[in-house]
Amino acid sequence: MCGIVGYIGKAEAATVLINGLRRLEYRGYDSAGIAILDDDRLVVAKAPGKVARLSDKAHADWAPELLQRACTGIAHTRWATHGPPTEVNAHPHLDKSGNIALVHNGIIENYRSIRSRLEGRGHFFYSETDTEVLAHLIGECDKGDLFQAVCDALHQVVGTFGIAVLSSHEPDRIITARRGSPIAIGIGDGETIIASDVSAILAHTQRVIYLNDDDIAIVTADSVDVRDLHNVPVTREIAELGIDPAAAEKGGFEHYMLKEIHEQPDALGNAIRGRLDFNLGTSMLAGMGTSPRELAEIGRVVLLGCGTSLHAGLVGEYAFEDLADIHSEVQQAAEFRYRNPILGSRDLVVAISQSGETADTLAAVREANQKGAFVMSLCNVVGSTIARETGRGVYLHAGPEISVASTKAFTCQVVVLLMMALKLGRGRRFSREDGIKFAREIESLPALVGRVILQNERIAQIAAEYTNNEHAFFIGRGPMYPVALEGALKLKEISYIHAEGYHAAELKHGPIALLQAGTPVIAIACDVPGKDKILGNIEECCARGARILGLVTEGDYATAERMHDAIFIPRCHPLVATIPATVALQLFAYHVARLRGCEIDQPRNLAKSVTVE
Ligand code: F6R
Repeated sequence: MCGIVGYIGKAEAATVLINGLRRLEYRGYDSAGIAILDDDRLVVAKAPGKVARLSDKAHADWAPELLQRACTGIAHTRWATHGPPTEVNAHPHLDKSGNIALVHNGIIENYRSIRSRLEGRGHFFYSETDTEVLAHLIGECDKGDLFQAVCDALHQVVGTFGIAVLSSHEPDRIITARRGSPIAIGIGDGETIIASDVSAILAHTQRVIYLNDDDIAIVTADSVDVRDLHNVPVTREIAELGIDPAAAEKGGFEHYMLKEIHEQPDALGNAIRGRLDFNLGTSMLAGMGTSPRELAEIGRVVLLGCGTSLHAGLVGEYAFEDLADIHSEVQQAAEFRYRNPILGSRDLVVAISQSGETADTLAAVREANQKGAFVMSLCNVVGSTIARETGRGVYLHAGPEISVASTKAFTCQVVVLLMMALKLGRGRRFSREDGIKFAREIESLPALVGRVILQNERIAQIAAEYTNNEHAFFIGRGPMYPVALEGALKLKEISYIHAEGYHAAELKHGPIALLQAGTPVIAIACDVPGKDKILGNIEECCARGARILGLVTEGDYATAERMHDAIFIPRCHPLVATIPATVALQLFAYHVARLRGCEIDQPRNLAKSVTVE
């Protein structure tokens, strides 16, 4: 999705801003732009396509002296919503006078009515965007005080925004504000960096202020003054990021995705560390903020998420029912608030989100809060909106996930859900001995995943047999059913092969009609309950000429021989096995996409953090 960077300080603004935009590339975008202040003049460069193209353009258009002089500016990567990804639609947009520049994430829902009002007053618009309308509105409100002008304009808009505004008449400041679209402000030494994502801030400072909805800040090189939209000062604490900037680099891997797949033993280790109690046979998740009595009163668990996070929730559903004997259900976050969910104080709602910014999940959290449920979150990004709004929950500690396709966040989400289920289970039917046994299984996960990663080369060779197909089916049963969904999602999003995940039993109720000679069926045939049945389903596919890639438990050569190709998954508890099985499918998808020459880290049309509903 769109990305914002703003800079005011002592360095060459264009360099800082373009480097910042590069850090945001992973979020997905299709055009980019930059505005810098050259004394009392705004200069703007925009380009469709990649940041590299914008950089070439800025360096071709702007003299080196200009670049050196300009220490203030704003920049943007745009993921097209209103109008195609052309140069004219790219941000920044200027007001009527050309003295005010604006970059904007989010959607101004009432932009059409504002636009026609402004057109009636002689404004002319070059672009099809909602953002240009806001730039003009700010310009019209500006009576010599940019801060007040932005406040006045924002009072007139309906929708969501994260913005940064620059005026050539007030070169010592940038105004930034948010409603529903994140803004973080990095506090450096004589420099301040504004960004929609802390990845763009990391290279400068670890000290960050997160704006809340309806906060607006006056940002100078050495101060940040946060107020509300009625000009009342508000206090926002400075958070320490504690993120090693090197964690956001590729570290010698060809792609971020491959790096992040390989990081999973460490990421899981971090998610688990200090959270298992082998004495009591339970888990310690302080962020849940619940007493055993409160846990005992929970009557139902509702898991919310989108995409990969939704799939993690589906594994969690099996875990809560199996380990904790508690009714559990998963709901697609986008649907949740529109179906008027029935919730009460005995319902535990768990919002699952890597970014902590997904608009649909955030809206679902707000709905669950309204209904008086006990709401917590499972986020990776520390300080993200969902984490802050829920107030309680468990961080994944997976480290920055840059590749658009989620990998290590998923496996860490699942391991945290397993630990939550263990905790709830110990308050119910799980004995101490059972608890200790399961905690030991969880503890072994980094090593189990390491064993799958050791098969990387073999998986790459297997993948070579599956690159020419345009369709693929993933099948699984029980907790491996969501793994099949996740495997299919990974393959389709990065290789553009049409892939569908099905419950293995469901295939013969329709989708089997699509099988032809050579159609790939990726079957999760590990030693889990229902394995015999899935072997039967595999035979049904073989009889129709499908090519079977099986995920098979280590040592189960009899099953492996029934497949055309096999990847081995370490023997472990069926719920725990969902994690190494997913890692195998991540590697499979990665190698298929690589061999097809796809742009793996930034697949077409996709965005890392989906901040529009
Ligand atoms: C797929 C993927 C997406 C996200 C989804 C939710 O690889 O990354 O499906 O899982 O957009 O994002 P978060 O977890 O940030 O809420």
